[in-house]
Amino acid sequence: MDLTELVNAAQAEMTAVQTAEQLESFRIKYLGAKGLLKQASDHIKQIPADQKRSYGQALNAVKQTITEAFERRKSELESQPTAVKGVDVTEPGRISHDPYRPGCLHLIQQTIDDLIDLFSQMGYSVADGPELEDEFHNFEALNVPLDHPARHPLDNFYLDLKPDEPPLMLRSQTSSVQIRVLESHKPPVRIIAPGRVYRPDTVDATHSFMFHQLEGLYVDKNVTMVDLKTCIDLFARAFFGDSVRTRFRPSFFPFTEPSAEFDIQFTSTGGSSRWVELGGCGMVDPNVLSAVGIDPQIYSGFAFGLGIERIVMRRHGIADIRDLFQNDVRFLRQFA
Ligand code: DAH
Repeated sequence: MDLTELVNAAQAEMTAVQTAEQLESFRIKYLGAKGLLKQASDHIKQIPADQKRSYGQALNAVKQTITEAFERRKSELESQPTAVKGVDVTEPGRISHDPYRPGCLHLIQQTIDDLIDLFSQMGYSVADGPELEDEFHNFEALNVPLDHPARHPLDNFYLDLKPDEPPLMLRSQTSSVQIRVLESHKPPVRIIAPGRVYRPDTVDATHSFMFHQLEGLYVDKNVTMVDLKTCIDLFARAFFGDSVRTRFRPSFFPFTEPSAEFDIQFTSTGGSSRWVELGGCGMVDPNVLSAVGIDPQIYSGFAFGLGIERIVMRRHGIADIRDLFQNDVRFLRQFA
């Protein structure tokens, strides 16, 4: 056999080797125990004695060239990643590993923004008050007497920061902002006040020691219960859709007279409907107006307060209020 032909053929074949299987066939064909190199080396017996030496040297060179080519391709193939067979459907999507994915507003804040948009179209501006309040603004000026159960220490977060001064508290309702606003603004006043409130409730699927309320207040001359009902009705239909119905039930709050609670009716796709309580409302009690120096003979007003978590949960079908505050981005990103 011609050794030059052998080495050329081996090199040409090697360029076609792409897989471990092909490489193994190559090895068997050229370097194997019965391979072409073995045959070439057996051939030495038939070589005339004076040519044996040069044939042997040429054969060694050919053997070395082919072995080296084999080793080189072998290490190339080993360093390649193994081909993936099939798809692992449990692999998380790449996007969840992306550290640069932009954040988004929290669902509660998104909802507050929606509510602000909506009420500003009805002429309401946004008012603010401190979360660390005094009892005058949280209770007293709102006509909640000292012996009222809502003021019980077990139902509020009181803070005795300075022994000689009246205690402060984490506000238990955004109604305190009604007082803050009326102290500093003459009617007409038309505000909403979204914000955090605090109550030492045991945390469960529907309770949290901190939640959000939206307070509304409208004080002017000749404000009546019709204005209140119209406002709530417009809000409910704009926010939940035109088909939603509203209902008022007589109730009691110290700061309104008369008082009501308002519900909205949701109809499920199956046709069944149910009433869901949204908040409290009423005509501002004359005592509240007097407490801030506004003459109740001249002015009247209405107020309302609703729980923001409640409408968020209803709107998005969230069953557990804790989901909103555990800051699990997998949950929060659904609302990005
Ligand atoms: N502050 C009340 C609460 O936390 C809700 C409320 C009821 C607010 C009636 C109002 C109102 O402004 O008129 O339960």
